[in-house]
Amino acid sequence: MKKYIFGKKLGAIVHGGDYNPEQWLEYPDILKKDIEYMKQAGINEATLGVFSWAMYEPREGEFHLDWLKQIMDNLYENGIYTILATPSGARPVWLDQKYPEVMRVDSKGIRNRHGFRHNHCMSSELYREKVSIIDRKLAEAVGDHPGLLMWHISNEFGGECYCDTCKVKFQDYLRARFHNNIDELNHEWWTAFWSKRYIDFSQIEPPYENGETAIMGLNLEWRRFTSRNFTEYMTVEIDTVRKYSKNKTVPVTTNFMKRFWDIDYRVLADKIDVISWDSYPAFHNDKESYSDTMMESAFDHALMRGMKKEQPFMLMESAPGQVNWMEYNKLKRPGVNEQFALQAVACGSDTVQYFQWRKSRGAAEQYHGAVIDHLGTNDTRVFKEVAATGDTLKRLACVEGSVMRSKAAIIFEWDNWWALENAGGLSRYTKKYDKTCQDYWTKLMEYGVEPDVISTGDSLDGYRLIIAPMLYMLKDDIADKLKRFVENGGILLGTYVTGYVNENCLCYQGGFPGDGLKELFGLTVEEIDTLYPSDRNAVQMTGSDVSKDGWEVCDYAELLRVSDAEILGTYKEDFYKGMAALTCKVSGRGKAYYQAARCVMDGMDMFFEKLLGEAEIEFHKHPKGLEYHRRYGENSVYEFYLNTSDEDISLQNLTGIDLIKGTAVRSDTVLPARKSIVIEK
Ligand code: GLA
Ligand code: ZN
Repeated sequence: MKKYIFGKKLGAIVHGGDYNPEQWLEYPDILKKDIEYMKQAGINEATLGVFSWAMYEPREGEFHLDWLKQIMDNLYENGIYTILATPSGARPVWLDQKYPEVMRVDSKGIRNRHGFRHNHCMSSELYREKVSIIDRKLAEAVGDHPGLLMWHISNEFGGECYCDTCKVKFQDYLRARFHNNIDELNHEWWTAFWSKRYIDFSQIEPPYENGETAIMGLNLEWRRFTSRNFTEYMTVEIDTVRKYSKNKTVPVTTNFMKRFWDIDYRVLADKIDVISWDSYPAFHNDKESYSDTMMESAFDHALMRGMKKEQPFMLMESAPGQVNWMEYNKLKRPGVNEQFALQAVACGSDTVQYFQWRKSRGAAEQYHGAVIDHLGTNDTRVFKEVAATGDTLKRLACVEGSVMRSKAAIIFEWDNWWALENAGGLSRYTKKYDKTCQDYWTKLMEYGVEPDVISTGDSLDGYRLIIAPMLYMLKDDIADKLKRFVENGGILLGTYVTGYVNENCLCYQGGFPGDGLKELFGLTVEEIDTLYPSDRNAVQMTGSDVSKDGWEVCDYAELLRVSDAEILGTYKEDFYKGMAALTCKVSGRGKAYYQAARCVMDGMDMFFEKLLGEAEIEFHKHPKGLEYHRRYGENSVYEFYLNTSDEDISLQNLTGIDLIKGTAVRSDTVLPARKSIVIEK
C-alpha cells in the first residue's frame, strides 16, 4: 500500500501550480522576480512544460532542453520542486503540417485543421512515435533531476476521434468484446430493430453524428472504447518516461476533471500512481449558494479520492482569482481561496495547486486568473490571499499522508451514467444521475458522515451503508455483490430506475430490477411515471419512524408490485394513490430499502437517521453551512470544520490542538462565517 503521494514524505503540503517560464525566457528579470515571489507566497512546487513542445523541438529533430534544466535547477536551489508534464497536450505547427494524420477527426468525419490544443488522434502510431521521441528526450535530460517530484502525462484528456484508424481499432475492440461472434453482438445490441443487423464487425462504424446513433449498446461501447484507447495512449507515454529516466521511482499522474462525461476515469486511474484533478467551481453564481457550490466541490473530491482510497490525491489546478472561460468570470471573493484550499486538504488532497502562476501576456488565457497579474507585483489582493494560504498550509504539514475512512458509500458509475443518459425514455431533462448521487452524498454529509464514492467493481467490504442511486445498469456481478452485502448485515438503499438493463443495455425480462434484485428488494417495478416539472406527488408514511409529514415527490415515481417487503410509505395522490413508494426487506442480517420515487431530500431526515442508526454509523446533525471532514494519520486524527455559511457557528465539545493557530482548542469555539478550523487529536 503506497501511502505518500510522492513516494516519500515531503514534510509539507504541496503549494504550487502551472508555471510557464517558456513564455518569458527573453525576460530574465521576470524569471528572477518569479522565484522571489514564489518564495514569498510559500510556493514549493511548479508544474512545468504542459504546453512546451514547440520550445523543446522548434523544428523536427532539433531539440532545446537546456532552458528547462536551468529552470528546474534554479527552482530546486530555491526549495521549489517540479512536476514535469509531457507536452503532448498541444502540438507544434510543423508536426500537424507534415503529418496531418495526427490531427483528430470530428463526429461528422471531418479532419480538424491545426489549432487549439487537445486535438490529437490517440490511435495514430505516428503520433505515438513522435510523442515518444520528445518524452524520451525529457526523461533522459531531467528524469533523474533531484527536484523532479512527479511526471504529469499530457493534459486533461478528453473528446474522441472518429478517424479510420480509430474506427478499425473500435472494430477490433468489439471483436474481442463479443468473442469474435457477430451474432452475439447482434443479439446484445438488438439489431433486429430497424433493420440494423450486421454481418461482419468491419461494417460497424463509430456513432458518427450523421450516422448510426440509435443503438444503445453501440453508443455505450464507443464510450468504453474511447476510455480504453486514451488509457492505451497514456500508457505509451508512461512507459516511455519510465524507460528512459534513470530514476524509475518518480510517480506518474494525469489531470482529471471531476465527473467528466467523456472518459471513465477509473480505467485511466488503474495505470497512474496518484489521482490528480483540476477544480474550477463557479463560486457565488446566480443559482446556488456558496455552501452548495462548496458541497459540490467536496463531492467531486470524494469521487476523485475514491479511485485510490488508500492514499491522498492532488488538487492539480484551481484558479487563484477568476477563470476566463465561464459564461461569467466572477472574482473569487476574499477568503475563498484559503477555505477552498483547506477543503481540498480536508477531503484528502496533499496538494493545493493553481493554474497559473503568472498571466500570459497574450493569447487565449491572458485574462485567466494567476497569482501574478499583469500588474507584476506582489501587493495585489490575489497574491496576498495566496501567500496567506501558503502560510496556513505550512501549519498543516503533519496532515500529509493521512487518509480518509468511511463506513458509508455512494455508488457512482460511468457506464451507468452513459447508459442512463442515452436511454430514450423518462425525461430528457430530469434524469440528473450524477446530481442525484451528489444529493445523497450531501445528505449524509449533513450528519457529519462523509461517504466514499465507489464503483460497482469496488469491494464492498467494510461498508455498513451503501446507497446506489438510479443503478439503471447492472454490470458484472453487482447484483450478487449487493445481495451478499445485505445478507452479511449491510444496509442498502436502492432507488427508482434500478436494474432495468444488463451491461449491453438490454432490458431485463420478467420485471425490473433484474438479475435477482427483485428478490432482494421483494418487489417488481411495473411502470414508471415521468412527472412534468410542475407535477408533484407525495409519500404518506405508514411507519412513523421514517417521517411524520411525508415526503414530496418530483420527477419520477415507479409503480410497484410488492411481493415480500414491508411497505413503509405509499403514494398520496394520483391514480396510484395507496401504492407502495418506500419498502424494506430483511435479508440475512441486513436490510434492503427501496425508494420508488424521487423525493425532496429536505423532508427525509428521519429516514436517513434511521438508516445511519441501523448501519451503526455514528452521526451528529450539523448546522447548515458547516462542513466536517476527517483524515486519519498514523497516530492522530485531523478534523476539519469549514463554516461556509454567512453566520457564525458555535462548536461544542472540541478537544485537541488548533493546527492553524497552534494552540489548544477551547471546547466551545465560535467559528466565524467563512472561517475554518483544523484540529489534531
Ligand atoms: C485547464 C487546463 C489549463 C488551463 C485551465 C484554465 O484546467 O488544464 O491548461 O487552460 O484549464 O482554467
Ligand atoms: Zn483517430
